Formats: sequence, structure tokens, C-alpha cells
Amino acid sequence: MRILVTGGAGYVGSHVVWDLVAAGHEPVVIDNLSRGHAQAVPSGVSLLQIDLADKEALSDVFERFRPQAVMHFAGSSLVGESMKHPELYFRNNLSNGLQLLACMVEHKVDKMVFSSSAAVYGEPEEVPITEEHPKAPTSPYGESKLFFESMLRRFDYAYGLRSVSLRYFNAAGAHPSGRIGEDHTPETHLIPIILQTALGKREELSIFGTDYPTEDGTCIRDYVHVCDLSSAHILALQFLDDGGRSEVFNLGNGQGFSVQQILSVAEKVVGKPIPTRRAERRPGDPAVLVASAQKAIDVLGWRPSFTDIDRIVESAWNWHKNHPDGYGPRQ
Ligand code: UFG
Repeated sequence: MRILVTGGAGYVGSHVVWDLVAAGHEPVVIDNLSRGHAQAVPSGVSLLQIDLADKEALSDVFERFRPQAVMHFAGSSLVGESMKHPELYFRNNLSNGLQLLACMVEHKVDKMVFSSSAAVYGEPEEVPITEEHPKAPTSPYGESKLFFESMLRRFDYAYGLRSVSLRYFNAAGAHPSGRIGEDHTPETHLIPIILQTALGKREELSIFGTDYPTEDGTCIRDYVHVCDLSSAHILALQFLDDGGRSEVFNLGNGQGFSVQQILSVAEKVVGKPIPTRRAERRPGDPAVLVASAQKAIDVLGWRPSFTDIDRIVESAWNWHKNHPDGYGPRQ
């Protein structure tokens, strides 16, 4: 299938692009490269440096490439940044996203797989979190993801544009080929920060909060391998192509690990102690986030292959130790 992948040079998007190629699909990537990396896109796949705000350029891509579906990853994705600059999140994730939807309707493209987030739930009332759990996002980032999901429902009703929204929990790890992995600037995520500390690129890991109501006092998260996220996208595309109706699915392993536990796994994987310091809680961090992904397992036939946290951290380490500077300077 010909698939337009927005944000396909980013962390999750690039892993999906590699898997789309391997599965015989024909992706075209659009990315403004503000956070993505041209080097993450496989050679042979067209990468067009376009911003979703550029209506004319976007329309031109639809005309030239005639995609049959869109996978939408482009957008801003940092909870903390969204608290400081909500306008960025409403503009990039909602206004630009709306422009993409309008363009799809205009060009009669009726299938979208959307990169959503566990941030739509906010502070959970119970775990594991199912898709029916109340949605009460605590940040503009989570609000933007939730509202885009609502827009998708409206576009289905009005124009028959069917979609699958995939609510990721904590994406982690890197492609087994070793060619692509996680490289954010700034980096805010736990596993890359721990591994950069192990590499001596940072002095220490700040543990944000040691007084949470969890066994060791640190936050618990559900880490899911980026390749398992990727396989869910391919299954979601197939689901829509087979006539499936609009749906939302959680993607996680259903197992929670505390910051302290992730640190211990990482120390085992890298074979040395990693310096840490206790720090204040980070505003907006819920104590525990663990998914129920039973719906994706039952409906999409999703079978995550990285269910062991050691393997997830090993895969991340394999990328970081071989790419201590990520993709290197921007080209
Ligand atoms: N953490 C630290 N020190 C650090 C970085 C993180 O202690 O230097 C802790 C955080 O406080 C949190 C855990 O490690 O408890 C995981 O933090 P990440 O930043 O790696 O991930 P988040 O859980 O904050 O974010 C993820 C996704 C977001 C999504 C959010 C939902 O990356 O896209 O879950 O709350 F919005």
C-alpha cells in the first residue's frame, strides 16, 4: 500500500517506516526535521521536508503521491514542554493535524493510523488502564492527543474517514538492526538518560521523586518496545484495509517497573553502577501508569515480542553504546 507517513523521521515513526518497507509497503515520509533525523529514514524511501502547516506543499504531496492511507506521527510530544508552551501543542498537534485531515478528505484518503498517548488518561483511577478508563489529561500534550482523537471520530461520522488511534505507554528500545534508535534533543526520557549517564555523557541520573506511594517510592511505568509499537501500526493498517471501523487501542506490556527497577536492570546490562541523585518530583508525573493492552491483543492480534524488560534495555543499550552521539550533527 502507498502510505504517507508524517513525522517518519522521528523515533517511533522511523521504526514503522523500516517495517513498512520490510512488509512490502510503499511509504513516503514527510517531516519538517525540527526534531526528526533524515538519517533515520531508509535510503530508497522519499523524505520530503515539509511542515504540516504548509497547506500547498501538503496538497501537492497528496496529488503527486496519491497515498491510500496516512500514518500520523508528526507533532510535539513532551509533557513538560507542553506545560510551558501550550500554544506549540495546540498549533502543531491540533491545528496542523486538522489541516492534514482536511487534506485527506479533499484527496479522498479514508484511512489513518494515529500516534496517540497514555497521556490522554491523566492520573489513573485504577490500573491496569483499559481504553474505557476516564480521560482526564493533565497537560496540553495529553489534551491535544485526546482532542485529535475526537476530531477523528467526527471525521469518520461526517466523511467516512476511518482511523485507529494507538495510545502508547512508554516507548523504549531500538531496532535490532542497530541502524536506528532513540535520539531526542533535548532528551527527557528515563532509559536514554540512564544509558547516557553510563556512557559518561551525563554526570548522574536525577530520580524525580522518591516519595511516591509505590513499593520503593519511585514512579512505575509500562515500557513497550518500539518494534512492538511498530508491529501494532502495521496490524492497525491491515485492520482498516480489511474494513475495520474506527478504534482506539492501548499499547503496553501490562507490567510496571519503577524508576529504581529500571536503574537496576540498566546497571546489570551495562555492567557497572550508574550515579544517581534524589530529586524533586517532576510536575505532572502520575505515580503509576500500566496498560491493559488486551483489546489490541484480541482485536488486532498484536503479539509483543519484547515482553522482558532486560531485553528492552539491552536493545536500547545496543543503540546507545554504538551511537553515543545519536545520529550525530544535523545534516
Ligand atoms: N524520570 C526520572 N529521571 C529522569 C527522567 C525520567 O526519574 O531524568 C522518571 C520520570 O519521572 C517518570 C519515569 O522516569 O517517572 C519515566 O519518565 P519518561 O520521561 O521516560 O516518560 P514519561 O512516563 O514521563 O512519558 C511517557 C511518554 C509520554 C506520555 C507520558 C504519559 O513518553 O509521551 O508517558 O504520562 F505523555
